Amino acid sequence: MRSWKAAILAGVVAFAAAGTTYAADIKIGFIVKQPEEPWFQDEWKFADQAAAEKGFTLVKIGAEDGEKLMSAIDNLAAQGAQGFIVCTPDVKLGPGIVAKAAANDLKLMTVDDRLVGADGNALEDVVHMGISATKIGETVGQALADEIKKRGWDMKDVGAIRVSYDQLPTAVDRVEGAIAALKAAGFPAENIYDAPQAKTDTEAALNAATTVLNKHADVKHWIAFGLNDEAVLGAVRATESVGISADNVIGVGIGGAESAINEFKKPTPTGFFGTVIISPKRHGYETAMNMYEWVANGKEPEKLTLTAGALAMRSDYEAVRKDLGIE
Ligand code: GLA
Repeated sequence: MRSWKAAILAGVVAFAAAGTTYAADIKIGFIVKQPEEPWFQDEWKFADQAAAEKGFTLVKIGAEDGEKLMSAIDNLAAQGAQGFIVCTPDVKLGPGIVAKAAANDLKLMTVDDRLVGADGNALEDVVHMGISATKIGETVGQALADEIKKRGWDMKDVGAIRVSYDQLPTAVDRVEGAIAALKAAGFPAENIYDAPQAKTDTEAALNAATTVLNKHADVKHWIAFGLNDEAVLGAVRATESVGISADNVIGVGIGGAESAINEFKKPTPTGFFGTVIISPKRHGYETAMNMYEWVANGKEPEKLTLTAGALAMRSDYEAVRKDLGIE
């Protein structure tokens, strides 16, 4: 009898030891390409919540270029991490990132920007969470078209600034989604001007948009769209700097983090008309939780998760945020 119980007990202990990693021993990296951007600050904030809830350690690292990213991965391994989540500064580093993670025996998940292989196709084996880029882009384009009509502008008098970052597939999908919706609403394709930004921040977008505005000084009204709020804010700042009045500008961004909210809070409306609010909670908290479950309990996350967005304008952003459970 005693030995029978002892055998069961021994089995239970062995099972528990094999199946569980103590939360306190778990270390997860969260690497982002642009740590100063509010979206990424929010992702980190929500990932921290997951860490506090489960009791694991979250290591937050900013990696603005490939070199920093590669050494960050080695560093995580040296610190004893078991996995990491990354928004890479360059999706073409895909195969290198996968190889480095494997060499260091680290579990890998990507967020926001999906890795691509040498052929330019997404690395579908890598677990990823991103936004529904085309659909969200369409929402942007539809919002722009609706507001053009509401203001009674003749579409032929409107120029569109496509703030672009074509080396990033999600950026292409977002702006192409916007263009598809604009065209469907009757917007003339020849009035869409490309403004390629060198980096995905507001300053680079401002520079790119300024070139377009200077080239087409005769255009009466302007609309702007791009990868994120920073891109559209850059375009809006450019219209201001060349002296176009705010009521002749409609910009709709993607994000809904602090940069957009601060703009809505300005007492005098700017050309930044709206944004599609996306969820840093899902991208930060959920990815961190998924990685934790993977490391702790061997539960591999879904290969691909695409998250939705909700349009918010200066006039209704507070209500939309409330509906989404933000603030
Ligand atoms: C990209 C952009 C960010 C943000 C995320 C959302 O990484 O650079 O600003 O829009 O996508 O997934």
